[in-house]
Amino acid sequence: MVNKRKWWQEAVLYQIYPRSFKDSNNDGNGDINGIIEKLDYLKDLGVDGIWLSPIYASPMEDNGYDVSNYFEINPLFGTMEDFDNLLVEAKKRNIKIVMDLVCNHTSIEHEWFKKAISDKNSKYHDFYIFKDQPDDKKSSFGGSAWCYVPELNQYYYHYFDKSQADLNWANPELRKEVANICKFWLDKGCGGFRLDAIELISKDLEKNIIANGPHIHKYLHELNQNAFALYDDVLSVGEGWPTIDICLDYTRPERKELSLIFEFETATLDWNPKEFGKYKPIPVDHSKLKDVIKNWQQGLKDKSWNVVFLENHDLGRSVTRYGNDNKYLSESAKMLGTLLLSLNGTIFLYQGEELGMPNPYFYDLDIYDDVDSKTMYQDVVVKNKLMSHDEFMNGLIKNSRDNARTPMHWDNSINNGFNEGHMPWLHMNEHAKDINVENQQNDDNSVLNYYKKLITLRKGNYKEYFINAEFERIEEKETNEDMFIFKKVINNSAILVILNLGENELEFDNSLINNKEILISNYKNTSAKLRAYEVIIVKE
Ligand code: GLC
Repeated sequence: MVNKRKWWQEAVLYQIYPRSFKDSNNDGNGDINGIIEKLDYLKDLGVDGIWLSPIYASPMEDNGYDVSNYFEINPLFGTMEDFDNLLVEAKKRNIKIVMDLVCNHTSIEHEWFKKAISDKNSKYHDFYIFKDQPDDKKSSFGGSAWCYVPELNQYYYHYFDKSQADLNWANPELRKEVANICKFWLDKGCGGFRLDAIELISKDLEKNIIANGPHIHKYLHELNQNAFALYDDVLSVGEGWPTIDICLDYTRPERKELSLIFEFETATLDWNPKEFGKYKPIPVDHSKLKDVIKNWQQGLKDKSWNVVFLENHDLGRSVTRYGNDNKYLSESAKMLGTLLLSLNGTIFLYQGEELGMPNPYFYDLDIYDDVDSKTMYQDVVVKNKLMSHDEFMNGLIKNSRDNARTPMHWDNSINNGFNEGHMPWLHMNEHAKDINVENQQNDDNSVLNYYKKLITLRKGNYKEYFINAEFERIEEKETNEDMFIFKKVINNSAILVILNLGENELEFDNSLINNKEILISNYKNTSAKLRAYEVIIVKE
Protein backbone atom coordinates (compact mmCIF):
# COMPACT_ATOMS: atom_id res chain seq x y z
CA MET A 1 0.00 0.00 0.00
CA VAL A 2 1.73 3.19 1.12
CA ASN A 3 5.44 3.56 0.50
CA LYS A 4 6.58 5.22 3.63
CA ARG A 5 5.27 3.45 6.68
CA LYS A 6 3.66 5.26 9.57
CA TRP A 7 5.23 4.78 12.99
CA TRP A 8 2.35 2.68 14.21
CA GLN A 9 2.43 0.18 11.37
CA GLU A 10 5.57 -1.50 12.61
CA ALA A 11 4.85 -0.83 16.24
CA VAL A 12 4.19 -2.95 19.26
CA LEU A 13 1.77 -1.03 21.43
CA TYR A 14 1.15 -1.85 25.05
CA GLN A 15 -2.13 -1.06 26.75
CA ILE A 16 -1.96 0.29 30.28
CA TYR A 17 -4.99 0.22 32.55
CA PRO A 18 -3.71 3.00 34.79
CA ARG A 19 -5.61 2.10 37.92
CA SER A 20 -3.97 -1.33 37.99
CA PHE A 21 -0.47 -0.73 36.65
CA LYS A 22 1.70 0.78 39.38
CA ASP A 23 0.63 2.71 42.45
CA SER A 24 3.42 5.17 43.27
CA ASN A 25 1.75 6.90 46.23
CA ASN A 26 0.37 3.83 47.97
CA ASP A 27 -3.29 4.84 47.90
CA GLY A 28 -4.48 1.60 46.32
CA ASN A 29 -4.79 3.03 42.81
CA GLY A 30 -2.23 2.98 40.05
CA ASP A 31 -1.17 6.41 38.80
CA ILE A 32 0.77 8.38 36.20
CA ASN A 33 3.96 8.54 38.26
CA GLY A 34 3.78 4.77 38.57
CA ILE A 35 3.73 4.53 34.79
CA ILE A 36 6.76 6.81 34.56
CA GLU A 37 8.62 4.50 36.97
CA LYS A 38 8.03 1.61 34.62
CA LEU A 39 8.91 3.19 31.29
CA ASP A 40 12.34 1.55 31.26
CA TYR A 41 10.66 -1.81 31.74
CA LEU A 42 8.47 -1.13 28.71
CA LYS A 43 11.40 0.12 26.65
CA ASP A 44 13.33 -3.02 27.49
CA LEU A 45 10.37 -5.15 26.42
CA GLY A 46 10.43 -3.47 23.01
CA VAL A 47 7.33 -1.31 23.28
CA ASP A 48 6.93 1.61 20.83
CA GLY A 49 3.72 3.09 22.12
CA ILE A 50 1.37 3.03 25.08
CA TRP A 51 -2.40 3.02 24.74
CA LEU A 52 -3.42 4.66 27.97
CA SER A 53 -6.93 3.79 29.16
CA PRO A 54 -8.71 6.99 30.31
CA ILE A 55 -7.03 9.23 32.85
CA TYR A 56 -9.43 12.18 32.56
CA ALA A 57 -11.57 13.55 35.38
CA SER A 58 -14.26 10.99 36.06
CA PRO A 59 -16.53 9.69 38.83
CA MET A 60 -15.11 6.27 37.88
CA GLU A 61 -18.43 4.44 37.59
CA ASP A 62 -16.84 2.65 34.62
CA ASN A 63 -13.21 3.29 35.59
CA GLY A 64 -12.75 6.43 33.53
CA TYR A 65 -14.89 5.48 30.55
CA ASP A 66 -17.31 7.97 32.07
CA VAL A 67 -15.53 11.28 31.52
CA SER A 68 -16.64 14.38 33.43
CA ASN A 69 -13.95 16.69 32.04
CA TYR A 70 -11.84 15.91 28.97
CA PHE A 71 -9.26 18.59 29.76
CA GLU A 72 -8.43 17.56 33.31
CA ILE A 73 -6.52 14.68 34.83
CA ASN A 74 -8.33 12.57 37.41
CA PRO A 75 -6.64 13.40 40.77
CA LEU A 76 -6.63 9.66 41.49
CA PHE A 77 -4.02 9.37 38.74
CA GLY A 78 -2.07 12.57 39.41
CA THR A 79 -1.90 16.04 37.88
CA MET A 80 -1.50 17.60 34.45
CA GLU A 81 2.10 18.23 35.40
CA ASP A 82 2.59 14.50 35.97
CA PHE A 83 1.03 13.84 32.61
CA ASP A 84 3.28 16.35 30.84
CA ASN A 85 6.19 14.72 32.55
CA LEU A 86 5.03 11.32 31.30
CA LEU A 87 5.06 12.69 27.76
CA VAL A 88 8.60 14.01 28.18
CA GLU A 89 9.90 10.80 29.73
CA ALA A 90 8.18 8.61 27.16
CA LYS A 91 9.56 10.72 24.32
CA LYS A 92 13.09 10.31 25.67
CA ARG A 93 12.58 6.58 25.21
CA ASN A 94 10.90 6.92 21.85
CA ILE A 95 7.57 5.74 23.20
CA LYS A 96 4.38 7.41 21.97
CA ILE A 97 1.41 7.99 24.23
CA VAL A 98 -1.94 7.13 22.67
CA MET A 99 -4.94 8.48 24.56
CA ASP A 100 -8.32 6.83 24.94
CA LEU A 101 -10.93 9.09 23.39
CA VAL A 102 -14.27 8.29 24.96
CA CYS A 103 -16.61 10.31 22.81
CA ASN A 104 -19.73 8.20 22.28
CA HIS A 105 -20.91 9.30 25.73
CA THR A 106 -19.95 11.39 28.74
CA SER A 107 -20.45 10.92 32.44
CA ILE A 108 -23.71 12.36 33.66
CA GLU A 109 -21.47 14.53 35.85
CA HIS A 110 -20.07 16.30 32.80
CA GLU A 111 -20.98 20.03 32.67
CA TRP A 112 -22.70 19.50 29.34
CA PHE A 113 -25.05 16.94 30.81
CA LYS A 114 -25.75 19.02 33.91
CA LYS A 115 -26.71 21.95 31.70
CA ALA A 116 -28.69 19.67 29.41
CA ILE A 117 -30.96 18.52 32.21
CA SER A 118 -31.24 21.85 33.96
CA ASP A 119 -32.80 23.57 30.95
CA LYS A 120 -34.56 22.01 27.96
CA ASN A 121 -33.76 25.14 25.95
CA SER A 122 -30.06 25.04 26.71
CA LYS A 123 -27.95 24.27 23.62
CA TYR A 124 -26.51 21.37 25.60
CA HIS A 125 -29.86 19.62 25.66
CA ASP A 126 -29.23 18.75 22.04
CA PHE A 127 -25.77 17.35 22.89
CA TYR A 128 -27.55 14.26 24.21
CA ILE A 129 -30.39 12.00 23.14
CA PHE A 130 -33.67 12.58 24.98
CA LYS A 131 -37.09 11.06 24.47
CA ASP A 132 -40.45 11.63 26.12
CA GLN A 133 -41.30 7.95 26.21
CA PRO A 134 -38.76 5.12 26.40
CA ASP A 135 -38.86 2.15 24.04
CA ASP A 136 -37.59 -1.34 24.85
CA LYS A 137 -33.93 -0.81 23.89
CA LYS A 138 -31.52 -2.53 26.24
CA SER A 139 -28.22 -1.27 27.60
CA SER A 140 -25.29 -3.52 26.73
CA PHE A 141 -24.61 -3.78 30.47
CA GLY A 142 -28.16 -5.06 31.10
CA GLY A 143 -31.47 -3.33 31.87
CA SER A 144 -33.15 -0.52 29.91
CA ALA A 145 -31.10 1.87 27.79
CA TRP A 146 -33.30 4.76 28.90
CA CYS A 147 -33.06 6.62 32.17
CA TYR A 148 -35.70 8.99 33.52
CA VAL A 149 -34.84 12.60 34.37
CA PRO A 150 -37.55 14.01 36.65
CA GLU A 151 -36.41 17.62 36.05
CA LEU A 152 -37.27 17.25 32.38
CA ASN A 153 -39.89 14.55 32.49
CA GLN A 154 -37.83 12.91 29.75
CA TYR A 155 -35.54 9.93 29.33
CA TYR A 156 -31.94 9.97 28.09
CA TYR A 157 -30.33 7.19 26.08
CA HIS A 158 -27.34 5.27 27.45
CA TYR A 159 -25.96 2.33 25.52
CA PHE A 160 -23.67 1.52 28.46
CA ASP A 161 -24.27 2.30 32.13
CA LYS A 162 -26.86 4.87 33.18
CA SER A 163 -23.95 7.02 34.36
CA GLN A 164 -22.80 7.23 30.71
CA ALA A 165 -25.18 9.34 28.60
CA ASP A 166 -24.80 8.96 24.82
CA LEU A 167 -23.82 12.07 22.91
CA ASN A 168 -25.77 13.31 19.92
CA TRP A 169 -23.28 13.37 17.06
CA ALA A 170 -25.93 14.72 14.71
CA ASN A 171 -25.23 18.07 16.37
CA PRO A 172 -22.37 19.84 14.52
CA GLU A 173 -21.43 21.87 17.58
CA LEU A 174 -20.84 18.70 19.56
CA ARG A 175 -18.65 17.38 16.76
CA LYS A 176 -16.59 20.56 16.90
CA GLU A 177 -16.11 20.10 20.65
CA VAL A 178 -14.79 16.58 20.08
CA ALA A 179 -12.29 17.86 17.49
CA ASN A 180 -11.14 20.45 20.04
CA ILE A 181 -10.60 17.76 22.66
CA CYS A 182 -8.44 15.86 20.17
CA LYS A 183 -6.43 18.95 19.31
CA PHE A 184 -5.82 19.72 22.98
CA TRP A 185 -4.08 16.35 23.50
CA LEU A 186 -2.35 16.31 20.12
CA ASP A 187 -0.95 19.79 20.82
CA LYS A 188 0.65 18.33 23.91
CA GLY A 189 2.42 15.78 21.75
CA CYS A 190 0.27 12.67 22.13
CA GLY A 191 0.69 10.11 19.36
CA GLY A 192 -2.99 9.57 18.70
CA PHE A 193 -6.15 8.01 20.03
CA ARG A 194 -7.90 4.77 20.62
CA LEU A 195 -11.50 5.73 19.93
CA ASP A 196 -13.83 4.07 22.38
CA ALA A 197 -17.04 2.46 21.05
CA ILE A 198 -16.64 4.52 17.90
CA GLU A 199 -19.07 2.59 15.70
CA LEU A 200 -21.89 3.75 17.99
CA ILE A 201 -21.57 7.48 17.35
CA SER A 202 -23.95 7.47 14.40
CA LYS A 203 -27.27 5.83 15.12
CA ASP A 204 -30.89 6.03 14.11
CA LEU A 205 -32.74 4.81 17.15
CA GLU A 206 -36.14 5.18 15.52
CA LYS A 207 -35.05 2.64 12.94
CA ASN A 208 -33.32 0.50 15.57
CA ILE A 209 -29.91 1.25 14.12
CA ILE A 210 -27.58 1.50 17.09
CA ALA A 211 -24.18 0.97 15.43
CA ASN A 212 -22.53 1.87 12.11
CA GLY A 213 -25.33 4.34 11.48
CA PRO A 214 -25.97 6.34 8.32
CA HIS A 215 -23.52 9.21 8.99
CA ILE A 216 -20.66 7.38 10.62
CA HIS A 217 -18.26 7.90 7.72
CA LYS A 218 -19.12 11.55 7.38
CA TYR A 219 -18.46 12.14 11.09
CA LEU A 220 -15.16 10.28 11.10
CA HIS A 221 -13.90 11.90 7.93
CA GLU A 222 -14.77 15.27 9.40
CA LEU A 223 -12.97 14.46 12.68
CA ASN A 224 -9.99 13.28 10.68
CA GLN A 225 -9.84 16.51 8.71
CA ASN A 226 -10.53 18.80 11.67
CA ALA A 227 -8.10 17.15 14.04
CA PHE A 228 -5.97 14.13 13.11
CA ALA A 229 -4.89 15.34 9.67
CA LEU A 230 -3.60 18.61 11.11
CA TYR A 231 -0.74 16.73 12.78
CA ASP A 232 1.98 14.38 11.65
CA ASP A 233 1.37 10.67 11.68
CA VAL A 234 -1.46 10.49 14.21
CA LEU A 235 -2.69 7.01 15.07
CA SER A 236 -6.47 6.69 15.28
CA VAL A 237 -7.54 3.19 16.19
CA GLY A 238 -11.24 2.61 16.65
CA GLU A 239 -12.94 0.10 18.87
CA GLY A 240 -15.52 -1.71 16.77
CA TRP A 241 -16.91 -5.10 15.95
CA PRO A 242 -16.64 -4.85 12.18
CA THR A 243 -16.82 -7.36 9.38
CA ILE A 244 -13.92 -7.14 6.94
CA ASP A 245 -15.96 -4.98 4.54
CA ILE A 246 -17.03 -2.61 7.27
CA CYS A 247 -13.46 -2.42 8.53
CA LEU A 248 -12.26 -1.44 5.06
CA ASP A 249 -14.84 1.33 4.91
CA TYR A 250 -13.37 2.81 8.08
CA THR A 251 -9.70 2.30 7.39
CA ARG A 252 -8.79 2.36 3.70
CA PRO A 253 -6.21 5.19 3.72
CA GLU A 254 -7.83 7.05 0.82
CA ARG A 255 -11.02 7.47 2.85
CA LYS A 256 -9.19 9.51 5.49
CA GLU A 257 -11.21 8.28 8.45
CA LEU A 258 -9.42 5.98 10.93
CA SER A 259 -5.95 4.45 10.74
CA LEU A 260 -7.08 1.13 12.16
CA ILE A 261 -9.99 -0.60 13.74
CA PHE A 262 -9.88 -3.49 16.20
CA GLU A 263 -11.79 -6.57 15.15
CA PHE A 264 -13.22 -8.70 17.90
CA GLU A 265 -13.93 -11.90 16.01
CA THR A 266 -10.56 -13.45 16.86
CA ALA A 267 -10.56 -12.49 20.53
CA THR A 268 -14.13 -13.52 21.40
CA LEU A 269 -14.39 -17.03 20.00
CA ASP A 270 -15.37 -18.34 23.42
CA TRP A 271 -18.42 -16.06 23.62
CA ASN A 272 -21.70 -17.80 23.15
CA PRO A 273 -23.23 -16.61 19.86
CA LYS A 274 -26.68 -17.92 20.81
CA GLU A 275 -27.31 -16.73 24.35
CA PHE A 276 -25.70 -14.63 27.07
CA GLY A 277 -22.52 -14.05 25.04
CA LYS A 278 -19.46 -13.95 27.23
CA TYR A 279 -21.42 -14.98 30.31
CA LYS A 280 -22.09 -18.45 28.91
CA PRO A 281 -18.69 -19.26 27.40
CA ILE A 282 -18.09 -22.04 24.90
CA PRO A 283 -14.81 -23.79 24.08
CA VAL A 284 -12.73 -22.04 21.42
CA ASP A 285 -13.22 -23.84 18.11
CA HIS A 286 -9.73 -24.12 16.62
CA SER A 287 -10.99 -24.61 13.06
CA LYS A 288 -12.85 -21.35 13.41
CA LEU A 289 -9.87 -19.60 14.97
CA LYS A 290 -7.70 -20.58 12.00
CA ASP A 291 -10.32 -19.45 9.49
CA VAL A 292 -10.91 -16.14 11.22
CA ILE A 293 -7.20 -15.35 11.37
CA LYS A 294 -6.72 -16.28 7.73
CA ASN A 295 -9.71 -14.22 6.61
CA TRP A 296 -8.54 -11.08 8.40
CA GLN A 297 -4.91 -11.48 7.37
CA GLN A 298 -5.84 -11.91 3.73
CA GLY A 299 -8.85 -9.61 3.73
CA LEU A 300 -6.98 -6.43 4.61
CA LYS A 301 -3.72 -7.15 2.78
CA ASP A 302 -2.66 -4.26 0.55
CA LYS A 303 -5.95 -2.48 1.21
CA SER A 304 -5.67 -1.49 4.84
CA TRP A 305 -3.72 -2.64 7.91
CA ASN A 306 -4.46 -5.26 10.57
CA VAL A 307 -4.63 -4.78 14.31
CA VAL A 308 -3.51 -7.90 16.13
CA PHE A 309 -4.49 -8.55 19.74
CA LEU A 310 -6.01 -11.11 22.07
CA GLU A 311 -6.30 -9.14 25.30
CA ASN A 312 -7.53 -5.83 26.59
CA HIS A 313 -9.18 -4.46 29.71
CA ASP A 314 -12.58 -5.83 28.68
CA LEU A 315 -11.60 -9.46 28.10
CA GLY A 316 -10.57 -12.41 30.23
CA ARG A 317 -6.89 -13.37 30.05
CA SER A 318 -5.91 -15.13 26.83
CA VAL A 319 -3.89 -17.90 28.48
CA THR A 320 -7.00 -18.88 30.44
CA ARG A 321 -9.38 -18.68 27.50
CA TYR A 322 -7.23 -19.75 24.54
CA GLY A 323 -4.43 -21.66 26.25
CA ASN A 324 -4.09 -23.77 29.36
CA ASP A 325 -3.41 -21.78 32.51
CA ASN A 326 -2.78 -24.85 34.59
CA LYS A 327 -0.45 -27.54 33.31
CA TYR A 328 0.85 -25.67 30.26
CA LEU A 329 0.73 -22.05 31.28
CA SER A 330 4.19 -21.17 30.10
CA GLU A 331 4.02 -23.20 26.86
CA SER A 332 0.58 -21.95 25.89
CA ALA A 333 1.28 -18.31 26.79
CA LYS A 334 4.39 -18.45 24.60
CA MET A 335 2.47 -20.16 21.81
CA LEU A 336 -0.21 -17.47 21.85
CA GLY A 337 2.44 -14.73 21.88
CA THR A 338 4.16 -16.32 18.90
CA LEU A 339 0.91 -16.59 17.00
CA LEU A 340 0.14 -12.90 17.56
CA LEU A 341 3.60 -11.62 16.82
CA SER A 342 3.90 -13.59 13.61
CA LEU A 343 0.85 -11.92 12.08
CA ASN A 344 0.69 -8.90 9.77
CA GLY A 345 -0.28 -5.63 11.36
CA THR A 346 0.09 -3.44 14.40
CA ILE A 347 0.45 -5.40 17.63
CA PHE A 348 -1.41 -4.50 20.82
CA LEU A 349 -0.34 -6.23 24.03
CA TYR A 350 -2.15 -5.75 27.32
CA GLN A 351 -0.37 -5.32 30.64
CA GLY A 352 0.54 -8.68 32.14
CA GLU A 353 0.02 -10.60 28.90
CA GLU A 354 3.81 -10.63 28.52
CA LEU A 355 3.98 -12.58 31.79
CA GLY A 356 1.28 -15.05 30.84
CA MET A 357 -1.03 -13.67 33.55
CA PRO A 358 -4.02 -15.99 33.94
CA ASN A 359 -7.49 -15.10 35.27
CA PRO A 360 -7.65 -14.66 39.06
CA TYR A 361 -10.56 -17.11 39.59
CA PHE A 362 -12.69 -14.95 41.88
CA TYR A 363 -15.47 -17.27 43.09
CA ASP A 364 -17.10 -14.65 45.31
CA LEU A 365 -19.46 -12.21 43.61
CA ASP A 366 -18.59 -9.50 46.16
CA ILE A 367 -15.02 -9.32 44.91
CA TYR A 368 -16.14 -8.12 41.49
CA ASP A 369 -16.10 -4.38 40.88
CA ASP A 370 -16.97 -4.14 37.18
CA VAL A 371 -20.18 -2.26 36.46
CA ASP A 372 -20.94 -4.57 33.52
CA SER A 373 -20.57 -7.75 35.60
CA LYS A 374 -22.64 -6.35 38.45
CA THR A 375 -25.45 -4.81 36.40
CA MET A 376 -25.74 -7.91 34.26
CA TYR A 377 -25.92 -10.13 37.34
CA GLN A 378 -28.82 -8.05 38.67
CA ASP A 379 -30.59 -8.19 35.34
CA VAL A 380 -30.01 -11.81 34.35
CA VAL A 381 -29.84 -13.63 37.68
CA VAL A 382 -31.75 -11.53 40.23
CA LYS A 383 -34.45 -9.78 38.23
CA ASN A 384 -35.17 -12.05 35.30
CA LYS A 385 -33.90 -15.37 36.67
CA LEU A 386 -32.57 -16.41 33.28
CA MET A 387 -29.41 -17.98 34.68
CA SER A 388 -28.63 -19.47 38.08
CA HIS A 389 -26.07 -17.86 40.36
CA ASP A 390 -23.61 -20.69 39.74
CA GLU A 391 -23.99 -20.59 35.99
CA PHE A 392 -23.40 -16.85 35.96
CA MET A 393 -20.37 -17.18 38.24
CA ASN A 394 -18.86 -19.60 35.73
CA GLY A 395 -19.23 -16.89 33.13
CA LEU A 396 -17.66 -14.28 35.39
CA ILE A 397 -14.70 -16.49 36.23
CA LYS A 398 -13.91 -16.79 32.53
CA ASN A 399 -15.04 -13.51 31.07
CA SER A 400 -15.72 -10.80 33.62
CA ARG A 401 -13.80 -7.70 32.66
CA ASP A 402 -12.23 -7.73 36.12
CA ASN A 403 -10.13 -10.73 35.09
CA ALA A 404 -7.85 -8.37 33.23
CA ARG A 405 -8.03 -5.55 35.76
CA THR A 406 -6.30 -6.99 38.83
CA PRO A 407 -3.14 -5.08 39.76
CA MET A 408 0.05 -5.84 37.84
CA HIS A 409 2.56 -8.15 39.51
CA TRP A 410 6.00 -6.57 39.66
CA ASP A 411 7.86 -8.56 42.31
CA ASN A 412 7.61 -10.78 45.38
CA SER A 413 7.10 -8.01 47.93
CA ILE A 414 3.82 -6.97 49.51
CA ASN A 415 0.99 -6.66 46.96
CA ASN A 416 3.46 -7.99 44.42
CA GLY A 417 5.11 -4.58 44.22
CA PHE A 418 1.98 -2.88 42.91
CA ASN A 419 2.31 -0.56 45.92
CA GLU A 420 3.63 -0.60 49.44
CA GLY A 421 0.79 -2.36 51.13
CA HIS A 422 -2.35 -0.25 50.91
CA MET A 423 -5.34 -2.41 49.95
CA PRO A 424 -5.57 -2.19 46.15
CA TRP A 425 -8.86 -1.00 44.63
CA LEU A 426 -9.40 -4.51 43.23
CA HIS A 427 -8.18 -7.79 44.75
CA MET A 428 -4.77 -9.01 43.73
CA ASN A 429 -4.61 -12.18 41.65
CA GLU A 430 -3.64 -14.50 44.53
CA HIS A 431 -3.91 -17.42 42.17
CA ALA A 432 -0.83 -16.25 40.27
CA LYS A 433 1.35 -14.64 42.93
CA ASP A 434 4.56 -16.19 41.67
CA ILE A 435 3.95 -14.92 38.16
CA ASN A 436 5.68 -11.56 38.33
CA VAL A 437 8.21 -9.41 36.52
CA GLU A 438 11.04 -9.97 39.01
CA ASN A 439 10.81 -13.77 38.87
CA GLN A 440 10.55 -13.76 35.12
CA GLN A 441 13.41 -11.35 34.56
CA ASN A 442 15.63 -13.80 36.45
CA ASP A 443 14.52 -16.82 34.48
CA ASP A 444 15.87 -17.23 30.94
CA ASN A 445 13.04 -19.54 30.14
CA SER A 446 10.24 -17.22 31.29
CA VAL A 447 7.30 -16.00 29.25
CA LEU A 448 8.62 -12.43 29.66
CA ASN A 449 12.05 -13.24 28.25
CA TYR A 450 10.41 -15.17 25.45
CA TYR A 451 8.28 -12.12 24.57
CA LYS A 452 11.43 -10.00 24.44
CA LYS A 453 12.98 -12.47 22.01
CA LEU A 454 9.82 -12.50 19.93
CA ILE A 455 9.64 -8.72 19.70
CA THR A 456 13.34 -8.53 18.81
CA LEU A 457 12.80 -11.16 16.13
CA ARG A 458 9.80 -9.33 14.70
CA LYS A 459 11.81 -6.13 14.42
CA GLY A 460 15.00 -7.77 13.14
CA ASN A 461 16.28 -8.89 9.75
CA TYR A 462 13.12 -10.79 8.92
CA LYS A 463 10.85 -7.91 9.84
CA GLU A 464 9.02 -7.76 6.51
CA TYR A 465 7.97 -11.40 6.76
CA PHE A 466 6.40 -10.74 10.11
CA ILE A 467 4.83 -7.35 9.51
CA ASN A 468 3.43 -7.38 6.01
CA ALA A 469 3.80 -10.57 3.94
CA GLU A 470 1.35 -12.74 2.02
CA PHE A 471 -0.44 -15.01 4.48
CA GLU A 472 -0.74 -18.55 3.09
CA ARG A 473 -2.30 -21.28 5.11
CA ILE A 474 -0.83 -24.75 4.47
CA GLU A 475 -3.98 -26.65 5.28
CA GLU A 476 -2.98 -29.86 3.52
CA LYS A 477 -0.19 -30.35 6.08
CA GLU A 478 -2.42 -29.86 9.10
CA THR A 479 -3.05 -33.35 10.48
CA ASN A 480 -5.47 -32.24 13.15
CA GLU A 481 -7.73 -29.29 13.87
CA ASP A 482 -5.35 -28.23 16.64
CA MET A 483 -2.54 -27.89 14.13
CA PHE A 484 -2.10 -24.53 12.42
CA ILE A 485 0.49 -24.10 9.68
CA PHE A 486 0.96 -20.97 7.66
CA LYS A 487 3.60 -19.21 5.65
CA LYS A 488 4.38 -15.55 5.43
CA VAL A 489 5.64 -15.12 1.91
CA ILE A 490 7.58 -12.34 0.19
CA ASN A 491 8.36 -13.07 -3.46
CA ASN A 492 9.70 -16.61 -3.39
CA SER A 493 10.85 -16.85 0.16
CA ALA A 494 8.99 -17.22 3.40
CA ILE A 495 8.91 -17.90 7.08
CA LEU A 496 6.87 -20.91 8.10
CA VAL A 497 4.90 -20.96 11.35
CA ILE A 498 3.83 -24.31 12.81
CA LEU A 499 1.63 -24.31 15.89
CA ASN A 500 -0.08 -26.79 18.11
CA LEU A 501 -3.11 -24.94 19.49
CA GLY A 502 -3.91 -27.74 21.94
CA GLU A 503 -2.34 -30.04 24.49
CA ASN A 504 -2.28 -33.36 22.62
CA GLU A 505 0.90 -34.44 20.87
CA LEU A 506 0.47 -34.35 17.13
CA GLU A 507 2.17 -36.10 14.24
CA PHE A 508 3.61 -33.64 11.79
CA ASP A 509 5.64 -33.65 8.62
CA ASN A 510 9.19 -33.18 9.89
CA SER A 511 10.47 -32.28 6.46
CA LEU A 512 8.81 -28.93 7.00
CA ILE A 513 11.54 -27.99 9.46
CA ASN A 514 14.45 -30.30 8.70
CA ASN A 515 17.58 -28.43 7.71
CA LYS A 516 15.84 -25.10 8.08
CA GLU A 517 16.92 -22.25 10.29
CA ILE A 518 14.74 -22.20 13.41
CA LEU A 519 13.97 -18.58 14.21
CA ILE A 520 12.15 -19.25 17.45
CA SER A 521 10.42 -22.05 19.33
CA ASN A 522 8.91 -22.45 22.79
CA TYR A 523 10.61 -25.83 23.33
CA LYS A 524 14.37 -26.26 23.59
CA ASN A 525 14.82 -28.94 20.94
CA THR A 526 12.58 -30.19 18.22
CA SER A 527 11.08 -33.67 18.41
CA ALA A 528 9.37 -36.02 15.98
CA LYS A 529 6.00 -34.87 17.26
CA LEU A 530 4.52 -31.48 17.93
CA ARG A 531 4.18 -31.35 21.73
CA ALA A 532 1.57 -29.53 23.85
CA TYR A 533 1.21 -25.94 22.59
CA GLU A 534 4.49 -26.23 20.71
CA VAL A 535 5.32 -23.60 18.15
CA ILE A 536 8.20 -23.41 15.71
CA ILE A 537 9.02 -20.71 13.23
CA VAL A 538 11.55 -21.55 10.52
CA LYS A 539 13.00 -19.59 7.64
CA GLU A 540 12.38 -21.38 4.34
C1 GLC B 1 -15.59 0.33 25.59
C2 GLC B 1 -14.54 0.19 26.67
C3 GLC B 1 -15.19 -0.33 27.91
C4 GLC B 1 -16.25 0.64 28.35
C5 GLC B 1 -17.22 0.96 27.22
C6 GLC B 1 -17.98 2.22 27.53
O1 GLC B 1 -16.11 -0.88 25.22
O2 GLC B 1 -13.49 -0.59 26.23
O3 GLC B 1 -14.29 -0.58 28.95
O4 GLC B 1 -16.96 0.14 29.43
O5 GLC B 1 -16.58 1.20 26.00
O6 GLC B 1 -17.14 3.31 27.46
